[in-house]
Amino acid sequence: MKGLILAAGKGSRLYPITHLIPKPLLPLANRVTMEYAFDRMKEMGITEIGIVVGENEAAMREGLGDGSKFGVKLSFVRQPEPKGLAHAVSFAEEFVAGDSFVLYLGDAIYDRSLAEFKDKFESSGCANLNLVMAVEDPSRFGVANVEGDRIVKLVEKPKNPESNLAMAGLYFFGPKIWSIFPTLQPSARGEYEITDAIQTLIDQGETVLAGEFKGTWFDTGTLDSYLETSFFLSGGDDIDASANVQGNTTSPVVIGKEATVSCNSIENSVVFPGAVVNVSGNIKNCILAGPVTAEGDLENQIIHGDWQG
Ligand code: G1P
Repeated sequence: MKGLILAAGKGSRLYPITHLIPKPLLPLANRVTMEYAFDRMKEMGITEIGIVVGENEAAMREGLGDGSKFGVKLSFVRQPEPKGLAHAVSFAEEFVAGDSFVLYLGDAIYDRSLAEFKDKFESSGCANLNLVMAVEDPSRFGVANVEGDRIVKLVEKPKNPESNLAMAGLYFFGPKIWSIFPTLQPSARGEYEITDAIQTLIDQGETVLAGEFKGTWFDTGTLDSYLETSFFLSGGDDIDASANVQGNTTSPVVIGKEATVSCNSIENSVVFPGAVVNVSGNIKNCILAGPVTAEGDLENQIIHGDWQG
């Protein structure tokens, strides 16, 4: 089985940092975000991984190299324009080369192994198995109607969801999926949806299974979720021993290796490794990549000091 990680997104909800550092390369608890995906892949015995990239291709190639420093073998697949998840996957047919594959949305962080789902996919011989998770607000997701462990219907972001099981960002596919991509039409939001491709498998009478994830699943795409994920992965506060912090810290705070922070107080914020931050007032709800110099307070900011907007 091969791995395919979608990482072509612009990370626009985390601008301006993502102008300089692609979202999949942002540090999360002193590691590169993508490393958590590689861990989950390696636990499944998967080391041949394709990364679907977009305009971030050069930075991604430079940041990840051939993958050897992470114990994986990377190939890069270019999605020429962002037109949805199914569109992104369709460019990876040559990379997957007739094998089965697991599709991992690059935004996702899972707190535990996913290997049981790979085993279930392989032992069942089904065309596709998808991770689902019970959520409180299913209308933000693809939603699955499940009978037993079969998915009988899928709807992308329904206004009136018929179930609380969200598609949770991990999909196992056999080769039957490839012939479906050319038949898809764009959805109401103008994208080629992976949920529509899977619904077509169901309509063709293929067995499509659900695997219910009972752990913690994060999407790191917004300021709030990025902060929350950082704190979770750090196990709460994490002020690296090599960081130099002057000012009061109020939980939760993550301050990376060799960062220098001078402020009155810092709360609910992440300071990147090596960043130099000088703020005369209080820092709250911020991601600071530095160098940052400010008079007064900083609140709800994502700052990369080198970025000229
Ligand atoms: C995508 C999928 C959706 C899935 C979600 C999981 O949504 O289209 O079915 O539930 O990822 O994160 P998007 O993040 O593109 O809105």
